[in-house]
Amino acid sequence: MKNISTIKEFRKWRKNISGTIGFVPTMGALHEGHLSLVSKSNKTCEHTIVSIYINPTQFAKGEDLDTYPQMVRADLDKLSQFEADCVFLPDNSEMYPNEIITSNYNSDLFKILEGKSRPSFFKGVTTIVAKLFDIIEPTHAFFGEKDYQQFTIIKQMVSDLDIPIQIVPCPIIREENGLAMSSRNKYLTEYEFSVVATIFKALECGKNILKAGEIHADKLKREITQIINSESAFQIDYVSVSNRNTLKEIDGELEGEILVSIAVFLGKTRLIDNFTYSLSEEHI
Ligand code: PAF
Repeated sequence: MKNISTIKEFRKWRKNISGTIGFVPTMGALHEGHLSLVSKSNKTCEHTIVSIYINPTQFAKGEDLDTYPQMVRADLDKLSQFEADCVFLPDNSEMYPNEIITSNYNSDLFKILEGKSRPSFFKGVTTIVAKLFDIIEPTHAFFGEKDYQQFTIIKQMVSDLDIPIQIVPCPIIREENGLAMSSRNKYLTEYEFSVVATIFKALECGKNILKAGEIHADKLKREITQIINSESAFQIDYVSVSNRNTLKEIDGELEGEILVSIAVFLGKTRLIDNFTYSLSEEHI
């Protein structure tokens, strides 16, 4: 497994690689969720490249850029158990040599859901992902469905800009108690970890209500909200039911493919989770 930290050296190495190339962009602090993307890439593509880079432009002032977990050595150890050909580990001077960077990509999807609470987030994510796509030149890129909006926006970006990369969604990987794996879970205290399963319980309950035939978005949101609020440690940012493809909020009757997503604060930690559901399929 080759470790490369400069664009120049990476491009030199990349020239000798051909065939299908899977790319897994990460910000490090790797957990089983990330490793499932690497494993999926291994199975899908002839080569796999992973990047580890904490992208400052996707953090707003006051967010956790300075405390975001960094554990490169442990990350490289974990990756060595997979068939990653190369890990790209650039630093800020490599990725942002000039202070001002103009990225033209924009989308209405930047303003909703996560974008409402984190207005500069998707500008930062699309900027770095576009830069990484340009450097890595993968044929496939793997994104976790925990960040469903991020996956949707990247899929939209490659379509809008005719970037010839297949964006592959990968299912959420969960802890035993149902908590969706995330590098930010490291922030949770023992007490917070003991109550965090309420998020999964609320989503499971939402899914069961749908299976039982509920077709009103408001009722579904109310039930989920009630369960989260039963645990006083949570502060809800949003509970949303939207069209799975357009991410447009649904307030009335549900139909087709939907995304149920939530964002909550547990102490200082902001956690997101979701599930998708098809009202046109039979659910047993
Ligand atoms: O999902 C993440 O970890 C980040 O948003 C990504 C895609 C690596 C871009 O910095």
